[in-house]
Amino acid sequence: MRIVRRFCGSSVGKKVIMAVTGMSLAGFVLVHVLGNTAIYFGAESFNSYAAHLHELDPLLKVFEVVLLLLFVVHVSFGVSLFIRNRFARPQRYAVSQSSGGRTLGSVTMFYTGLIILAFIAYHLWSVSFSSRPFMTSIADLIRAHLQSPYVAGLYMVSVSAMALHLSHGLWSLWQSLGGSHPAYDTLLRRGALALAVLVGCVFVSFPILAQVWDGFLR
Ligand code: HEM
Repeated sequence: MRIVRRFCGSSVGKKVIMAVTGMSLAGFVLVHVLGNTAIYFGAESFNSYAAHLHELDPLLKVFEVVLLLLFVVHVSFGVSLFIRNRFARPQRYAVSQSSGGRTLGSVTMFYTGLIILAFIAYHLWSVSFSSRPFMTSIADLIRAHLQSPYVAGLYMVSVSAMALHLSHGLWSLWQSLGGSHPAYDTLLRRGALALAVLVGCVFVSFPILAQVWDGFLR
């Protein structure tokens, strides 16, 4: 127990915990975005995807609890690293500087994290826990949401913040886990950026389609 506490309290431990939780959350985001591409094939396809997911139910609940725990740990350690970095000046270099230097993604990690946090709270409240009339399908609910220009705007800003967070995070986690090497650093950096841009583009395409196309999720 003391070893665990000491590990969690150390800078290295915090970085490893951020990396492992960040990688797991990123894995979920990738699966989520892939699943959501069912939206491109219309309401029937999206509803059937959602129904299949719910068939996994007892397992799905366990998965959701694990995801929530990972998220809470990631946010708590992220906030703690940010505060430590902000107020412990002499440690600033060790905590925040990566060998790759400062990029827009790296200096905004905490702020993009806060946007993601607010968005996930809103998303769960409006989609997962909303009391929709019995006959409303998930496709109808999503269409109604994304057809509002305000919600579409909020969605676009939030998923762009998510893409920015991932553009640094997907590279940085390898540094934290000690799995990076100068020989393939550029490849890792470009791969992380490409994956983040791809995820961002797919997510952003949903509100854009909802705004410009009458046949969206019909
Ligand atoms: C689904 C949502 C999220 C995903 C996929 C995600 C992913 C990641 C990844 C992969 C990293 C890199 C870890 C490393 O450098 O080893 C990271 C770092 C970070 N995340 Fe997240 N994150 C998410 C949500 C959040 C939220 C809600 C916050 C809230 C504040 C947050 C704050 C941070 C911070 C501050 C760092 C940088 C820590 C540091 O190295 O100084 N993240 N995230």
